Amino acid sequence: MRNHDELVEAARRHVLLHFAENEDIAEQPKIFVRGEGMYLWDDEGNKYLDTFASLLTTVCGHHRPEIHAAVQKQMEQLEFFPSYHDCYTLPAIELSEKLAEVMPGDLSVSFIVCGGSEANESAMKMARQYFWETGQRARTKILAKRWSYTGATMGTMSATGIPWFWETFTPRLPGYKFFNPEWHYHRELGLDEADAAKVALKDLTALVEFEGPESLAAIIMDPVSGSNTGYWVPTAEFMHGVRDLCDKHGILLIFDEVQVGFGKTGKWFCCDHWDVVPDIITVGKGFGGGYLPIAAAVTTPQVADVFGKPGSEFRHGFTFGGHTTACAAALENIAIIERENLVENAEQMGRYLREKLEDLYKYPIVGHVRGIGLVLALELLEDRATWKKLEPEGKIGSWVRDRCYELGMILRNNEDILVFAPSLTITREEVDLMVGLTEQALSEACEKFGKT
Ligand SMILES: Cc1ncc(COP(=O)(O)O)c(C=O)c1O
Repeated sequence: MRNHDELVEAARRHVLLHFAENEDIAEQPKIFVRGEGMYLWDDEGNKYLDTFASLLTTVCGHHRPEIHAAVQKQMEQLEFFPSYHDCYTLPAIELSEKLAEVMPGDLSVSFIVCGGSEANESAMKMARQYFWETGQRARTKILAKRWSYTGATMGTMSATGIPWFWETFTPRLPGYKFFNPEWHYHRELGLDEADAAKVALKDLTALVEFEGPESLAAIIMDPVSGSNTGYWVPTAEFMHGVRDLCDKHGILLIFDEVQVGFGKTGKWFCCDHWDVVPDIITVGKGFGGGYLPIAAAVTTPQVADVFGKPGSEFRHGFTFGGHTTACAAALENIAIIERENLVENAEQMGRYLREKLEDLYKYPIVGHVRGIGLVLALELLEDRATWKKLEPEGKIGSWVRDRCYELGMILRNNEDILVFAPSLTITREEVDLMVGLTEQALSEACEKFGKT
């Protein structure tokens, strides 16, 4: 095999990384070659604890022979035939049935795609065509949550509330408007949770009325905010309020559970925490366990039936949508989650991890620990009482991330927000190791940057 420097040279010349900055590429890149459970190895033999589960995908851990066997069996039988026109395949049927079983409410009709952006794009187009077919053709606008990431396609980028993702691609598509999440009112205005929920709902209601309900197709939102903002958890009042608002005005509600679905929050789906059922839910990432690219937009018969009428077929699709072997992998991934009670493990280990992270408040720069289940964030702050950020923003967070790499742990940071979202298989010993290495890096950072 070529040595590390030769591989890096070839990579720099031929590979364009996703969402990478130049300095990231220029500094010591890693080349991963093997995975097992919660661990990864690079091409130089270094071992790392993977606390971010390969971008929140490997819910059952790396290297599961059961999934390898399911994939091999399907490959040998029929690797792929599209879910297209008038054709189905067995794994796509079985997976859609299984989704109907684990999904809340009557979410029971699946449109299977290859990634989270495709799932959200599909959900928004589903909402748009639903209103086209039902004679409400002025309903074209979509409301999305500020600071939430919805995806990388033109449509999902236009529904992404973080300007970094779209400022180089303006103009965005028209008809996307944004509302503030509850946590904004809590953090910026100092309101307590109940008041923040009230004001957030009031503002959202005002936006709906200002835009005109008859012009709105959907509200799309991640119930718990993603890793970019560090897993802010909403109140039941806000979640029910949004559902009621949609019902009152006939707006479709889309929950983006691409990141937080499939057991990560300690329930099968994040919205199960509040018993609020959307009209369309999107899943991805952990859905296929990281083994093959797969995602879905799952809706109710009430929405899906509209596409069943002659001439009303859903005019949207992808060649690889409902990929036969990816469906087989996802089915086995779900079977493992069930067999090994991984949703319960996520709830228990999440509680334990949170307690351990809260112990780190003894370091003055540990500003806020938040999240739910096994999606947790630790935000570093200059002053936790006033939410004053560290300056320059992201310097210490990035230093901690780099130090964790040296200590043998992959830790994702978004500026000064450290993210913990491991596989659902995590054990107490692995939690202890993860928090121990984080603490070592944090205490060194406090010394180095004079924050003792
Ligand atoms: C909440 C959320 N929605 C959508 C996406 C897009 O998924 P993908 O990267 O698979 O297209 C992501 C990816 O990070 C996400 O976190």
